[in-house]
Amino acid sequence: MALGERAEIMIRTLASISAEPNRLVRTFLSPEHRAAADLIAKWMQAGGLDVSEDALGTVRGHWAGEGKKRLLIGSHIDTVVESGMFDGPLGVVAGILAAEHFAKAKRKLPFGIDVLAFGDEEGVRFPATLSSSMAVAGTFDVERLQISDREGVTLREAITAYGKKVADIPAAAYDPDVAAAYVEVHIEQGPVLEYRNQPLGVVTSIAGQTYLNVELLGEAGHAGTVPMMLRRDALAGSAEVILLAEKLARATNGEVVATVGVLRIPAAAANVIPGNVALIVDIRSGSDSARLQFVDVFKAEIRILAEARHLGLVVTETRNVKTTPCDASLQDAMAAAISATGSAPVMLASGAGHDGTAVAKLCPIAMMFVRCRGGVSHNPAEYASPADMGLAVAALIRFIENIKL
Ligand code: GLV
Ligand code: MN
Ligand code: MN
Repeated sequence: MALGERAEIMIRTLASISAEPNRLVRTFLSPEHRAAADLIAKWMQAGGLDVSEDALGTVRGHWAGEGKKRLLIGSHIDTVVESGMFDGPLGVVAGILAAEHFAKAKRKLPFGIDVLAFGDEEGVRFPATLSSSMAVAGTFDVERLQISDREGVTLREAITAYGKKVADIPAAAYDPDVAAAYVEVHIEQGPVLEYRNQPLGVVTSIAGQTYLNVELLGEAGHAGTVPMMLRRDALAGSAEVILLAEKLARATNGEVVATVGVLRIPAAAANVIPGNVALIVDIRSGSDSARLQFVDVFKAEIRILAEARHLGLVVTETRNVKTTPCDASLQDAMAAAISATGSAPVMLASGAGHDGTAVAKLCPIAMMFVRCRGGVSHNPAEYASPADMGLAVAALIRFIENIKL
């Protein structure tokens, strides 16, 4: 069967592993993560790879090379809530199919290949992300073990419940002399390749991100009795915060994007004036200075806004990740591989975050993007065609054949 059709069947099979019957939800260290990891391990074994799993649940499929150096190929198998099926799994499946190509041909390369299936890229379960790729890069901070999910389960407890030992986290890190490069194939999640009428692109950089947790503290009260002028409504204040984020981001003319995708009203009821609301603001830009300037202005303006409504305000920065450039010579090698498989490589920046931002602390990184129908992602309608995915695997194989590590 052609590579693209195989990729699609594998991706659809993975998408059947969900915490909910009618939509795709697969979070870090959940029973569905376990089931997806087991399936990935089975495919890796069938492809001739040696399989292991580290303390964060990252599945690793190894094909030995002639030297001690290794090319890491990876992506993630966790999803957002009500996810599409290509975001993450495409990169893992492409890695398995490419590694299998060399393993089945019994073709030794001057370096080994490790295919990595990470479990924590979307940051849906815990208020932090990239734990699994940070462990691989040797930058996992043990303070992270104390963060909890919405049920109050700490990351430490979740790792233990998954059958892993936190004491083994340092052993997940690669020796920088062994990890020579990292490459990730990913659905574009935007409209550029479709607009340019090309199937594949080369990523130049991954946008930086700031996450702000904003908590507004007013006073709960009776919806029928408290006059409008005497209210301290935390949700009405949150509405202003959300619109402010949108207004400031629109004013940057595309340089910064800002989103509020989470809004929590702990004591929500139709007849109660909301006394306490928490929201998360996701701020991104390819320019770190533009992002940091946005964050400063936004923080100052929400302070004024909260004061005017007599609301308490607590702002916590839970993420501040710089823009990550992809390696220049790997970009060239990726562009050459795409050209060799018959399409014109489009150079483009990634507005989405990826495991590569963590792995870049370990070794040079490269990414290939695959055309995404309508630019739609983080949405069940997300789609990449088997033909484009087949080209992506072929270009990845060509990239591996040609690179010098
Ligand atoms: C991951 O998809 C992210 O960019 O947040
Ligand atoms: Mn992704
Ligand atoms: Mn995603």
